[in-house]
Amino acid sequence: MNTLSMHNQRVLSGMRATGQLHLGHYHGVLKNWINLQHEYDCFFFVADWHALTTEYENPGVIAASAMEMVADWLAVGIDPNRAVLFLQSRVTEHAELHLLLSMMTPISWLERVPTYKDQQEKLRNRDLATYGFLGYPLLQSADILIYKAGMVPVGEDQVSHVELTREVARRFNHLYGQEPGFEEKAESAARKMGKKAARLYHELRRSYQEQGDHEALEKARALLEDQQNITLGDRERLFGYLEGISKIILPEPQPLLTKASKMPGLDGQKMSKSYGNTISLREAPDEVQNKLRTMPTDPARVRRSDPGDPAKCPVWLLHEVYSDDDTKHWVQQGCRSAGIGCLECKQPVIDAVQAELTPIRQRAAEIRQDMNMLRKVIDDGCEKARDVASETLDEVREAMGLLYR
Ligand code: TRP
Ligand code: SF4
Repeated sequence: MNTLSMHNQRVLSGMRATGQLHLGHYHGVLKNWINLQHEYDCFFFVADWHALTTEYENPGVIAASAMEMVADWLAVGIDPNRAVLFLQSRVTEHAELHLLLSMMTPISWLERVPTYKDQQEKLRNRDLATYGFLGYPLLQSADILIYKAGMVPVGEDQVSHVELTREVARRFNHLYGQEPGFEEKAESAARKMGKKAARLYHELRRSYQEQGDHEALEKARALLEDQQNITLGDRERLFGYLEGISKIILPEPQPLLTKASKMPGLDGQKMSKSYGNTISLREAPDEVQNKLRTMPTDPARVRRSDPGDPAKCPVWLLHEVYSDDDTKHWVQQGCRSAGIGCLECKQPVIDAVQAELTPIRQRAAEIRQDMNMLRKVIDDGCEKARDVASETLDEVREAMGLLYR
């Protein structure tokens, strides 16, 4: 089944609003978005409702970071003329689709999403035994399906959410992707093929639907191709009836796996707010310098004259991100022979991070000078998003018989 027709060029991704963006976000997510915006029809949004599922006791951080996040997106080079930028909670259509999908989503599908138990374990200091948290991945499904996105750039940990989205879409199409009276219409179309062909069609359809016999499916398709005296509409119906659907309302998305971010934090672990090892995109220059100068190195280098091993040093991981081959060679040699000191070794990294952050910081400051511009970008984005979302929602309501016209 080709569900990747006209919408496969649409990319959608969201980012939880939980505080300041840092270099981990930049290297792990935003650089990828910047590239995608040149190739695809991109929708990027601040997932403030998703943030609420874990921050509901302290929603202040969300309010404080939602707009700032969009400002940082612009500062790093996301272009509002290329990508639609919006806030999830301003497009309330997501919530209605989430509700409608919740009616047909088995609880067990949500309970077995790996992040459900993992996050509860990890965030033990919060009570995540909530209805909203269980529904987290389904809300994400609604985010994706409401734009009929074909591709969803996510990290490894989110692939299971896209997988759930595919299952939900399939179930939705199966349940509601049928025109009124579809079955009767299909049956009457089958009769028009004549007794013999109709009987064969039914047999093959049964083999496919009950036993998953793909050969039968192929034979039935060939049979339909051969029919001379049925209309195009009837033929389409018979194709759909064969597979148990007639219309794809919500196309199945694909995950677009972003390579695991190599961005290490100041302690060598992955850069993350919860490890307290970040350099924020708004960090002041002397703070950047200070953080890097005081970051740990190979503990074997107690004195300047003690040789070290870059493989045991978090600074080396930063060289791998920022340094060219010559510099890396200089580090390897100098460290092992105690030919260079650690502060000396850190200097090229400090320079590279400053060079990376200076223009971002400048643009962020300009944007903060012009909050009206930022508000307008967000208002325009929300409006564009709402236009697409409300169209899909109308189709969904219609398919479910909720239009009452
Ligand atoms: N759950 C995602 C994360 O934690 C954020 C998100 C919410 C998202 N809705 C989405 C990502 C839709 C992709 C598509 O990173
Ligand atoms: Fe780490 Fe560089 Fe010091 Fe070696 S010289 S321990 S790589 S900071």
